[in-house]
Formats: sequence, C-alpha cells, structure tokens
Amino acid sequence: MSGVNPDVRRLSEWGADRLHQLAEAYDTPLYVYDIARVRENARRIRAAFPDAEVSYATKANTSKPVLRALQDEGVGAECASAGEVQRSLDAGFTGSEVRYTAVNPPSEDLDHVCALAADHPLTITIGAADTLDRLAERDFFGKLAVRVNPGVGAGHHAKVTTGTDPKFGVPYDEVPSLLAAAADRGFDVVGIHAHAGSGISGDDLSAHRELVSRMGALARESPVSLEFVNVGGGFGVPYKEAEPPLDIAAVAEATREALGEVDAQLAIEPGRYFVADAGVLLTRVNTAKPTPETLVVGVDAGMTTLVRPAMYGSYHEIRNLAPDAGEREAVETLVAGPICETSDIFATDRVLPAPARGDLLCIGNAGAYGYEMASQYNSRPRPAVVCLDEGEAYLAVRRETLADVTSLEEP
Ligand code: LLP
Repeated sequence: MSGVNPDVRRLSEWGADRLHQLAEAYDTPLYVYDIARVRENARRIRAAFPDAEVSYATKANTSKPVLRALQDEGVGAECASAGEVQRSLDAGFTGSEVRYTAVNPPSEDLDHVCALAADHPLTITIGAADTLDRLAERDFFGKLAVRVNPGVGAGHHAKVTTGTDPKFGVPYDEVPSLLAAAADRGFDVVGIHAHAGSGISGDDLSAHRELVSRMGALARESPVSLEFVNVGGGFGVPYKEAEPPLDIAAVAEATREALGEVDAQLAIEPGRYFVADAGVLLTRVNTAKPTPETLVVGVDAGMTTLVRPAMYGSYHEIRNLAPDAGEREAVETLVAGPICETSDIFATDRVLPAPARGDLLCIGNAGAYGYEMASQYNSRPRPAVVCLDEGEAYLAVRRETLADVTSLEEP
C-alpha cells in the first residue's frame, strides 16, 4: 500500500524542527510517539485482514494514548499480565475486547484477572493444563482458549522465538483432549492460540505458513466447536532504512491459504507492527571522545532507556539532527550510553555526520519494546514520553526523578 498510508515511516521522514522543539520543551532522553501513525498502522493491518479479529499485543507499548487510539480503531487488547489487563480496561477496552494470555501466571495475576472477569467478559488463554485447576479454584468458568505449542518458531533473535520453546503453550498433540476436558468441566471453550515468535520477516513466511496450517488442522479436529483460531503476532518491521517493509497483504494471503477451511474466525495479535515506526527516542550527545579505534559518542540515553541493542544486538537507525549535519564529515562512531556496563551501546561502526557535544540524536523504531522495557538500573530515572497527535504535542508520561527511584525504599 502506498500514498496516504505508507507501509513504513522512515526515521528520515520525522521533522527535525519539531523534534528539536520537543527536546527543548521536555528535555532528553525523550520518547516521542506519533499517535496518528499508530492509527495508520492499525488501519493498514485491519484492511489487510478484513475478516480477522485483530488484537494489539499491549506488551509492545502500554501508554494510555496508544491504547486509547487502538481501542478507538476497533482493535482488541492481548495482555500478558494482570497489569496489562487492568491498564487496557482503564484505557477503555471492554471485557470482550480483552484477552489475557497467561504464561506461568503468578497467583496474584489470576486473582486479579478472575476478579475483573466477574464484571468484564474477558478471555483467558492457558498455556498449561494445570492452569485450569487454578482458574476453577477462583470460580472462573468463562471464555477460555488454549495456547498451543506449535513446534514451529521464527523471529529476529533466538530470545524472541517462542513457537519451539516448551515454556510456551500446551504440547500440540495434547491440545484436543485438553479442549474436551475444559469443556467437560464447564469452561466456555472459545479458541486456540499460537505465536511463532517476534519480528518475522518476509523470509520467515514459510514458518508462519507452517504454524497457521498446523493450527488449521487442529481446529478441524477439535472436539469442541471453536469461535476463533488465533495465529499470534510477530509481524516484523524494517529496522534499517534501506530494508523493505513486510508485505502485509502477502502475509494475510499466506495466512488465509494456510489456514484452509475452518469453521472459526481467524484472529491475529501483532504488537510491534502497530507501534514501532510510530516512536522515536531523542537523546543528547554529552561526550565526543576521539580514540585510536573510533569516535566514542556518549549520549544521555542508555540500555536503561532502550535495551533492545544490548539485549538482542538489535539494529536501530540513528540520525544526527544537528542543523548543519549535512555539512559535517561522515565518521565512524560508537554510540554509547551512560551506564557502567559494556553492553550499554546503541551502535558500533556506525557512520554518522560527526557528532559533537550538544547535538541531538534521534533513534528510530523506538515505539515498540522501548519505554516498555526501560529500567532504573544504575539509579537512573526513566525518561519522559510525549505524544504527537495531528500536530498537537502533550506529555503522556512525566520524567522520573531520583525521588521516584528511591520512593519504595524504607528509610
Ligand atoms: N502474542 C504473543 C503471545 C506474544 O508473546 C507476543 C510477543 C506477541 C503476540 C507480539 O509480538 P510482536 O508482534 O510484537 O512481535 N522484546 C522483544 C519482543 C518480545 C516479544 C514477546 N512476545 C523485542 O524487543 O524484540
């Protein structure tokens, strides 16, 4: 798709003047989300999957403006914890739009979600047979789905490949008997669910196809009639400026083909795809240190602000927003944060218009798994989040202070 709703929004397309204004007004490091782009992503994915029930995996970004915009776009909420369920309901999702995917759920989570389920008809997806007992103990006999371990995985990194990991889901062959047992016990069995992994590219389509076809087969042999077959999320986005975007229409077509005839609705639940290119991270250069190896560029954001490069070796584009960047010499840099840890690096061997102290840098595709994975390691307060919507800017999350960091400590 092109024109008014392009498949990808590149880092180079963000207006530098606006980003400078925001950095001045709200300080750095600063997350900036463009809510209008979140809406565009939702419309594109709903258009590609017109017959599917589309949910948003809230773990990618739970900020309230994002949740509200997606609820407004007719997307449901797939939640990984009681906290995400609560925040989704608070943001305006109705119970029937909420799915809680319980992964080794702590008792507190089940207590909280089962209590909410009394008033909000949400769906709980279990990934282990004994979770049924734990739900029954809490008098939950509501809408239930079973997460399947499909035995097929994909993803941008081994750490985010779920489909082959025994941690996730019920072994494939045991699913039919578990569905029957759940129905016998009085649960309202509504669906089956699987997720291959995160960051699936066009090259991984065969794994996606395989997963969907296994889910189709399972649905056809289900002893219980199902309302939906959820084939997860994981749709990748281009992290490199030159990388082509995922052909979402091709993914949708492959999904429909592989599923085959089933008497249930297709459901999907991407996270990253909705928000990644709707967010950037602004960070200020505080140190420019020439060394024999490279120019070390020290910035005020670190692995505590955006952990993906440190955790997965993920590539994120970086743009020097200095007004005269076009005239600067292109030099090889190592962009590093203020955390006293070797992995606290955003990029190595990255060629940038020679960064100087005071420059504003912008890190791309920071809308997914950015703020969400931020921490206070090294006693570092978490950054602020600002949203843009149709030209308006407003604070969504205030910057933490040192007092916030120590607020839970006993005197
Ligand atoms: N559904 C389930 C059951 C999941 O476990 C996940 C992601 C999703 C949907 C959404 O996947 P997405 O469409 O966003 O790829 N922190 C990592 C990603 C971890 C994803 C975990 N589960 C990263 O920054 O790449």
